[in-house]
Amino acid sequence: MKVVIITPTYNEKGNVERLIKILEEDIFPQIKNHDMNILVADDNSPDGTADIVRGLMKKWKNLDVNVGERHGLGAAYIRAMTYAIDNGTDVVFEMDADLQHDPKKIPEFLKKIDEGYDMVIGTRYSQGGSIPSNWPIQRKIFSIFGNLLVRFILLRFSIHDWTGGYRAVRKEVFLKEKAELTNFKGYTFQVSFLNKVARDGFKIAEVPFHFEDRTLGDSKIAPMVYIVDLLKYVISASIKEYLFGPFGKFLVVGGLGFIIQAVILRILVEIFKVNPPIANLTGAVAAIFSNYNLNNLWTFKTEKITGIGQYLWKMLNFYATSAIGVIFIQTGIIFLGDQLIGRKYYFIYFIVGTAVLLIYNFTVYRFIIWRKKPHK
Ligand code: GDD
Ligand code: MN
Repeated sequence: MKVVIITPTYNEKGNVERLIKILEEDIFPQIKNHDMNILVADDNSPDGTADIVRGLMKKWKNLDVNVGERHGLGAAYIRAMTYAIDNGTDVVFEMDADLQHDPKKIPEFLKKIDEGYDMVIGTRYSQGGSIPSNWPIQRKIFSIFGNLLVRFILLRFSIHDWTGGYRAVRKEVFLKEKAELTNFKGYTFQVSFLNKVARDGFKIAEVPFHFEDRTLGDSKIAPMVYIVDLLKYVISASIKEYLFGPFGKFLVVGGLGFIIQAVILRILVEIFKVNPPIANLTGAVAAIFSNYNLNNLWTFKTEKITGIGQYLWKMLNFYATSAIGVIFIQTGIIFLGDQLIGRKYYFIYFIVGTAVLLIYNFTVYRFIIWRKKPHK
């Protein structure tokens, strides 16, 4: 495959020369099964970074530079990735020019790509990754909590490093997401890119690495601006995705199921004097049938179950997992309330049990019943 290491630069004269030399002389010779290249994405750096690269291009034919106006890190990446992919590239890397991203990890990223992953991200926050130990404590806290915050707001726990800029991306991934990326800068570009890739069900792997401290030149990231930008993004993205996306629809479907179940429960308890737990179970059977069909046709229509065999098999699964929830979670809570507090408040136990049940159900539906099919 044709692989291009894209390194964005703004006044990185000294760094870019060091990085290119390490890549060309130490790293690329170890990689036999891919065609390795470097593309420097420079924004007309006043220090003449691009001219340095042009000089080095005489020596190394797999080196190129892409120059444009400065519109922030995200814009530089979009421009350079587009350029590389237009020129026949299969996999692009994001890599800082200041050697904070250990180039020795490149073969590990490529191994994951060879295994079939669509995107590989370097992580500083799990399985042996780390941040510089000499960073001041407030910077460490900022970095660690920033990433935790993003994970918890976006509800994507399997990804540990959202803001980092050491990544490998297949061209299909970039081409799919490109149109939606244009408005984001700095950290927000990295977070929004990764979030869209995860949302679309691409396969993502993590490679732990130690984030080195910068030894030459200065950081270009203005933390306050990006933190505010980032928070705006994660909050609005999660509202959009969860309230107006599948979770919102699931709530509407579940709300209807709740009404069906509640009506049956009340009729059976009030008119027919049935035990509340039994009445609840009866209502649940009807509600689950309604939920299965509406979720299939609407909430998870992108993963719609088709074919009578699949439909029945998945319905069986749906009943089984829903039954577990209804018996152990919802009815369990009603049972406990009935035993510990008394029958008088049975309807309150039903509401509490249902709230907990909803969270369990969405998790099961999203990740088991209507699990996203991997790309390709
Ligand atoms: N072309 C271009 N245009 N390059 C830029 C720009 C820009 O506007 N701003 C920064 N860069 C380049 C830098 O020259 C460097 O090679 C790389 O992008 C990273 O910038 P730094 O200024 O060194 O960022 P950092 O070390 O503070 O931030 C790192 O960590 C962040 C948080 O984890 C980077 O890896 C970020 O990508 C990451 O989001
Ligand atoms: Mn840096």
